[in-house]
Order: sequence, then structure tokens, then C-alpha cells
Amino acid sequence: MPNRDHHEKPFDDGTLIKLELFEKYMESWIPVWIHRRGIFQIFDFFAGPGYGKNGAPGSPIRILTKIGNYADTMIKNGVKAVVYLNEFKHSKLTRLIDNCSEFMKKNVKTAKVVNVVYTSEDKDALFDRHQDSLRQFPSLVMLDQNGIDYISPDYLHKLSSLQRVDTLIFVPSSYFTRFGMTPEFGNRIDIDVEALREDSPSNVHRNLIDQLNNLIPANSRLTLYPFTIKKSPNIYGIVFAATHPLAVEKFLDISWKLNTLNGEANFDIDNEVGRPDTDLFGSPLSKRKLFEQQLEEFLRSEEESTNLKVYHFCLKFGHPKRHANEFLRKLKIDGKISYTGSQPTVKLVKTKSEIKQIKWTGP
Ligand SMILES: C[S@@+](CC[C@H](N)C(=O)[O-])C[C@H]1O[C@@H](n2cnc3c(N)ncnc32)[C@H](O)[C@@H]1O
Repeated sequence: MPNRDHHEKPFDDGTLIKLELFEKYMESWIPVWIHRRGIFQIFDFFAGPGYGKNGAPGSPIRILTKIGNYADTMIKNGVKAVVYLNEFKHSKLTRLIDNCSEFMKKNVKTAKVVNVVYTSEDKDALFDRHQDSLRQFPSLVMLDQNGIDYISPDYLHKLSSLQRVDTLIFVPSSYFTRFGMTPEFGNRIDIDVEALREDSPSNVHRNLIDQLNNLIPANSRLTLYPFTIKKSPNIYGIVFAATHPLAVEKFLDISWKLNTLNGEANFDIDNEVGRPDTDLFGSPLSKRKLFEQQLEEFLRSEEESTNLKVYHFCLKFGHPKRHANEFLRKLKIDGKISYTGSQPTVKLVKTKSEIKQIKWTGP
């Protein structure tokens, strides 16, 4: 598998969107933990030197910047962050330490709330070494690997047993169609390469995620979600892995803001632009319209549903709850459903009293 050095040229658009997605996820993840006294952790196992060749911040500097934005609240609430930065290449590790130390000198408040732990280990040793702390503290894990190791069934099984760990894994997905038959790939992951090759190259990342979801133990709550990144001529992608619905909700909110058309790629993955918004002429519906059609069918078949059931329906189909709330309001105006109160409030309800009944009243 090709292994060019990521830091020998400026970050390209695909790399920048990967970093933006990670950054946006931190923006919504960190605030969850700053109001609870204690520790949260961010792991960057493939950290790089801190900056790209053109001076753009890499993942480690983005982590420190994002945590620093909450330094005042963290100091007030007695919250600390531990950031684990691992870089295998010693020349890069030295630059990483220099760059982060320089950053901390300039950002004194950040230095007060963050403890950075630097390591230079091979990827294989890392996950197991951190198992205990991954179980103990809420953690966000960034696996910006060059290869495919962290999507192997072995790691997916390990991730599926962790409760408060959200993970973003970068995968060079189109390499599966090129090298998937080689022992280097085949010995590590049992993927149906032929099935990947039969579909359009643009779909390789989401098809890969579908196959990986089938490798997760049935009793696990871990689910994987794709975000495809096109860097011509190759297709890469982020795999988002989490067990908690609120984590998935955050990821979907972000991915649908990054791409309002399909919420799962940095391009028009389903060729939706310019397509009519009805299926009158046999053309496929837009992703949003298709979801609405499926949701309407779901409510009709259920006859009596709830805001919580609709919430889980959204996550299953990869849509933010906002899409369901907007559509439910329209269905009510059209006289097809009724619910108590003025809003459908599709959300992860915490108490029974928050559950709203949704009744099908249409034909
Ligand atoms: C895609 S880059 C990560 C980029 C980084 N997230 C950033 O924003 O700059 C992957 C990094 O993994 C490092 N690496 C290579 N082989 C490794 C191994 N066996 N174990 C851990 N890290 C490795 C590379 O030196 C490289 O810096």
C-alpha cells in the first residue's frame, strides 16, 4: 500500500475537511464534560508534527486550541484534560513536542487545564496500553492512520466494549478495491472486495462501512457511520464509531452542516444536484426526500408512535433529528398526524414524562 509522507506537502482540501470534521466534533463533545468535575481525555495516536507544511494547524494543535477555548470554565469547575499525542517517527516527535510546548507557552490558561503526554510507539501497542483509562474516563480518539489496522474486527470488538469512547478513524477506502485481495489486507480484514468493486468507486467508503457494521457483535451498541472524502483519484473516509445515541446525534448534526445535500461526503455522492424533487419521472428521490417518504411510511405502519421512536429512526437512517422535526410539523399541518403540544420534540428523551405520542390520522 502506498505510504507517502503526509507532512511533506501542504494539507489538501480532503485533509482540511477531515480536520474540520474532527474540530467540529470536539466543539460539541468538550462542552459535555466541562461541567462535570473530573478528567476527560483526547487521544491522537497518529499525531504528526503539529502543523502541516504550509503552517496549517494539524490535529494536535487543533486539540489544544479547542480545549483552550473552555479553559476558564474548566478552571472554575476543576476539570482537567489529558491529551495523549503519539508520533512514531522520532524526527516528527521532536517537532511535535517543540510546537506544542511553544503553543502552551503562548496560551498559559490552556497549559493550566491540559496535561499532554507524548509517546512514540507503534500503532499496534497503543490501544491495549490505554484500555484501562479508556474504560475509566470519557474519551475522544482520533486515529488518523495511513493504513487500515484500526478497522479490523479485533479493534471493532475492543471499541464495542467501551461505553464513553467516541472514535474517528481515517481510512483509505479505495485501497480496498486496489489491494484488497493482497495478503496485507486479506489477512487483517475479511471484506468482500468483489462487492466493493462492483459498485461505483464513489460508494466504496459507505459500502465498506456497511460491511464493517456486520462484523460488530450483535449484542453491542457500537455503530459506525461514514463520511466519504474524495481526493481525486482516490476515495478516503472517516469512520465515526460510538455506542451512545447522543454521540451519533452530534456527528450527524455536524456532517449535515458540512454537506447540506447528503450529510455524508465532501461532494455530491448521489448526483443529486439538478435532479427533480419528485419521483414522478422515475428519477430517484433526493436523500432528504427519500428519508421523509420512509418516515411517513413508518408512521403510517406504526399507527401510534412516539418522539423517541422517531429519534431512533433518524439515527438508523443517518439523519439529524432536525429533519424529522421539520417534516413532522408539515405532516401535522397536512392533517396526516397529530401530537400533543405545539412541537413534535423528536429527541433522546430522558424521562417518561417527555415522551410524546404521535398518531397517524391520514389515509
Ligand atoms: C496521516 S498522518 C497524521 C496527520 C496528523 N493527524 C496531522 O493532522 O498532522 C499519520 C502519522 O502516523 C505516523 N505513523 C507512521 N507509522 C506509524 C506507526 N506504525 N505507528 C504510529 N504512527 C505511525 C506518521 O509518521 C504520520 O505522522
